[in-house]
Amino acid sequence: IASCLVGSEMCIRDRNKKLKGKKILITAGGTREKIDPVRYITNASSGKMGLALADNAYRMGADVTLVSTFKADKPYKNIVTETALEMEKAVKENLSGQDCVIMAAAVSDYRVENCAENKIKKQGGVLELKLVENPDILKSICKTPNKIICGFCAESENLLENAKAKIQKKGCDFLIANDISRKDIGFNTDENEVYIIDKSLNIKHIEKDTKENIAQRIL
Ligand code: PMT
Repeated sequence: IASCLVGSEMCIRDRNKKLKGKKILITAGGTREKIDPVRYITNASSGKMGLALADNAYRMGADVTLVSTFKADKPYKNIVTETALEMEKAVKENLSGQDCVIMAAAVSDYRVENCAENKIKKQGGVLELKLVENPDILKSICKTPNKIICGFCAESENLLENAKAKIQKKGCDFLIANDISRKDIGFNTDENEVYIIDKSLNIKHIEKDTKENIAQRIL
């Protein structure tokens, strides 16, 4: 009996440390693009999904690098970034040697072309902001060899149809699609419900659950 117990305990420990020896980079949070010194373009990402992935990967024994838009007081490496350009730099500088990259961050597709040096004064009437495209971080790293690259896909309509088109456009190995039109999952919630899509467009549905449990299933 004793040896059986030791055996099963080891089994559990081994299962829990399934990512031992693996390096994984995860992004989390919503980027902020400055309009002037006090105003931003951003989105509703709380960073909970990315953080759940990073925590679970760490518990499973992985060497984790979290690139986030907030400071995470965690026992693994955390690089804090604000804008899409900063996030791109951090991801690329830390890409070498990673076995897997999971991009759960909500990255702004656009930034203000010229951030005002001083607070913009109210002038009455219409204020026009010129936005320029940000680099697509996920797409740009998909050709890096020997890595599993996984993106997220936030859609408010035609979730699976758009996600299938997006994985082909981006070229990543996996895309995790979530419906952000729902109030109970997606942005700034404790729960999520996702579809994992692979390159061959196979789809696996993960039913609504806490972001912690969803993260475990993804990993
Ligand atoms: O943070 P939470 O409050 O917990 O919410 C979780 C979440 C809804 C933010 C998360 O589950 C999620 O869907 N993250 C991706 C949001 C997003 O930016 O989706 P997208 O479909 O616009 O982008 C597709 C992928 O490309 C994403 O992996 C994104 O990180 C990446 N991207 C997008 C734009 C860009 N310029 N560069 C990128 O790398």
